[in-house]
Amino acid sequence: MSEVPAGQVAAHGPLQRWRVLPAHAVRGELTVPGDKSVSHRTLMFGALADGVTEATGFLESEDCLATLGAMRAMGVQVERPGPGQVRVHGVGLRGLQAPSAPLDMGNAGTAMRLSMGLLAGQAFDSTLVGDASLTKRPMERAAAPLRKMGAVISTTAGKPPVTVHGVGQHGGRLHGAVHDLQVASAQVKSALLLAGLYADGPTTVIEHAVTRDHTERMLRAFGAAVTTTVEGTTRTVVLEPPARLQGCTLEVPGDISSAAFFLVAGSIAPQGSLLVKNVGLNPTRTGIIDILRLMGADLRILNPREAGGEPVADIEVHAARLKGIRVPRELVPLAIDEFPVLFVAAACAEGETIVEGAEELRVKESDRIASMEAGLKALGVPCVAQPDGMVLAGCAAGERPFGPGTIDSRGDHRIAMAFAVASLAATGPVLIEDVANVATSFPSFASLAGAIGLAVAEA
Ligand code: S3P
Repeated sequence: MSEVPAGQVAAHGPLQRWRVLPAHAVRGELTVPGDKSVSHRTLMFGALADGVTEATGFLESEDCLATLGAMRAMGVQVERPGPGQVRVHGVGLRGLQAPSAPLDMGNAGTAMRLSMGLLAGQAFDSTLVGDASLTKRPMERAAAPLRKMGAVISTTAGKPPVTVHGVGQHGGRLHGAVHDLQVASAQVKSALLLAGLYADGPTTVIEHAVTRDHTERMLRAFGAAVTTTVEGTTRTVVLEPPARLQGCTLEVPGDISSAAFFLVAGSIAPQGSLLVKNVGLNPTRTGIIDILRLMGADLRILNPREAGGEPVADIEVHAARLKGIRVPRELVPLAIDEFPVLFVAAACAEGETIVEGAEELRVKESDRIASMEAGLKALGVPCVAQPDGMVLAGCAAGERPFGPGTIDSRGDHRIAMAFAVASLAATGPVLIEDVANVATSFPSFASLAGAIGLAVAEA
């Protein structure tokens, strides 16, 4: 993979497309690449720590390389000694330097929103920009609660570019605050906790739906005092501002959001089984497993272990007859990135599947409800989009619900990969347009998919 200059992400060549042929069986084993959320955070906390942070299993995707470029642009030395390895030479909480140009976060919402929190307390100003997709995504959800802490942030009509006026430059400090999160968003929670590192008192984040807790876990690994208390469905996270963070050694678990494509592939394939190795099973991320099991999937968790403070296991998946379900609302935030491929699973299931309470899908890398509805309909799959979800009719046992056709993935990596998986239940070739952004999260997807039985070729 080519190195990316400081503060910039790789420019894409012409829009690529895939031609995917119907497939009938999957077999073999594969290891999914590192977790995107954990990889971003490894770089950020490693940069702000004292001493060296070394990680293995780091995801070398464009999104994470955008964060890496941003850290380098602020004076952090990051070495990449080998595949999946990073060595971050932390500069300490007060050691970042002003970047000489806007920080380009590419397609990465996580990089941008977390950086807003990280930058709010610095002793310099900064500007965050992104690609066409990121430039359409809402940033006030992070900016508004950060302002409650004294942050000086301006968005462009609520979206990027975002300018952060670091309050630390006149000896100022952010203030601890109590935030009652209005959207179920780990990115917003994490932005507030990152800002909380620079606050004059504790930062409290109250969430009413469980969102991924990698930030809390990692802050503890770097020596910060973070407590989480749970009362019913409400979780309260409190961070005491630490004097310093201490660099550490981390093993990034495999990304369950990448594994999800293969869990669905193995479930809908007419024949075969797959062993998906090294899957991070953080309980705030395992909604995909619970939902697929409710649909009748045959998933077997093998070899459970710990890696980098996160539970990890291998998952064996066998072809199964899926049935439609009403997806429990409380599982939605725990599977929020997996709905494109879950809609593919639902199209193959017997009976109706109803997804509700998933309006966040409308503000992802694309409007995933609209992108999936258009793609499913283009392949002849009956479905009705809802403001907050989708109703899919499902199909009869043994039927292949996807006809041949052309999909526009709208530059959204997970839409492209979801429709590649659909080839296991397709009756003809599927052309998937605009797939270059698969490299933002899963650069090796097409080759791994090919190795286990899918026919994905550049068109
Ligand atoms: C992420 C949180 C989620 C998820 C995104 C990664 C994170 O976003 O969709 O892919 O790393 O914190 P939201 O916080 O917007 O739900």
